[in-house]
Amino acid sequence: MSLRLPDSGAGTTPDGRRHAPSAERNAAPILSVLRDVLPPGGRLLELASGTGQHAARFAADLAGWHWHPTDVNPENFGSIAAWAATSPGRIAAPVALDAGQPGWAAGWQGLDAALVVNLLHLIPETAAINVLDGMAAAVRTGGIVLIYGPFLRDGRPTSEGDAAFDASLRAQDPAIGYKDIARVTAHLAARGLDVQLREMPANNLMIVAFKL
Ligand SMILES: C[S@@+](CC[C@H](N)C(=O)[O-])C[C@H]1O[C@@H](n2cnc3c(N)ncnc32)[C@H](O)[C@@H]1O
Repeated sequence: MSLRLPDSGAGTTPDGRRHAPSAERNAAPILSVLRDVLPPGGRLLELASGTGQHAARFAADLAGWHWHPTDVNPENFGSIAAWAATSPGRIAAPVALDAGQPGWAAGWQGLDAALVVNLLHLIPETAAINVLDGMAAAVRTGGIVLIYGPFLRDGRPTSEGDAAFDASLRAQDPAIGYKDIARVTAHLAARGLDVQLREMPANNLMIVAFKL
């Protein structure tokens, strides 16, 4: 099902790169966390890469890192590949990956890091659990799981804008919507990760979880 999101209207440049305003806005604060927590180099799996803007921006800045963009929707691959061409040699060809399915991490083992931006609120709870389990399984011991997005805190949205967005998602599909941060962090801890939280702009959070 195709969701109506507040700013899903991405413009496209002639070379096929799509530009999502939200990815433009949150790239700098997310990159700041990545610079802070990631070691000098490694392999990073990105789930739900969308337009590919983040992959290009982050891989260009994080010189030692090799990026693996993925998405459930192959329609995004043209844009991801076009963005990847702006950072030659840093970004693998996009791969189809439904991170909401159980067991997807079997094909992705020993990674140094896994990142997902703005996915968990768009999928059902069971699919979100599969995302968390897969990310926890895919990274090596000492590897890092990074999850960015909006969350409920103590079961509630943090602002009127968040409440309205969460309600609009649930109106489109009662199975989806913001996940509670305490449940998400408890699940990651139960999978053997040391979980830290970073406050991000616009009431978002970045989960930074180290596999013990
Ligand atoms: C709001 S966009 C975020 C894209 C990108 N991470 C960003 O922040 O710009 C959500 C993305 O999740 C992808 N997606 C939705 N369900 C998915 C799933 N089960 N597994 C992997 N990707 C999924 C969509 O195709 C879309 O590209």
